[in-house]
Amino acid sequence: MNATAGTGPEDGYDAAPFVPEGADLARLRSAAAGCRGCPLHLQATQTVFGAGEPSSAMVLVGEQPGDVEDRRGRPFVGPAGKVLDRALAEAGIDPGEVYVTNAVKHFKFVLQERGKRRMHEAPSRREVTACRPWLVAELRLVSPRVVVALGATAAKALLGPSFRVTREHGVVLPLPPLDGVDPEVEVVATTHPSAVLRADDRESVYAGMVADLRVAAGVVGGG
Ligand code: URA
Repeated sequence: MNATAGTGPEDGYDAAPFVPEGADLARLRSAAAGCRGCPLHLQATQTVFGAGEPSSAMVLVGEQPGDVEDRRGRPFVGPAGKVLDRALAEAGIDPGEVYVTNAVKHFKFVLQERGKRRMHEAPSRREVTACRPWLVAELRLVSPRVVVALGATAAKALLGPSFRVTREHGVVLPLPPLDGVDPEVEVVATTHPSAVLRADDRESVYAGMVADLRVAAGVVGGG
């Protein structure tokens, strides 16, 4: 067993038994490649673990890899990633200096157009909870000053199921305990970059996201 075992769900969905104790990020990443903690690994191409600067002061957490990420094995390298990179740069954050990950490490999708198109499907709460030990392990190792929750799935995974991004985006909050340990880290929630792409009023949703990212940048820059 390991450090996080016993804290996961007791319904059979749980990544904790796959998380090696005392591992660094590289070892975590290779262990995550073999995670069978929930059924999402069955249809995904591969595990998409976090990537970026391992000692970054800022960790960004998305929902789950998309179609492009599933094929390439890296988070936020598809259309949402382009929006994110542009917004980070506009908020004065170097996209090369952050650590980026997801609440869920496998792509969940349904097949459409006679099996030709893989359409994103939101992960269930059970799947998010099952995958949480990987996120907790990443946050412990990177040990950032601020975590940015991108969208409702990440925000609920980090701040609890009653959290509403629409109401509390751009607010600096303490990150609740990670498996009973106060991480002494702040968290700021914002819109998911995919929501910018789907919005009718793209410019204002994008501007809101940049404003929230500036708040997060202020936590890092604020000493
Ligand atoms: N959306 C996410 O939430 N994460 C990714 O890595 C890509 C798209």
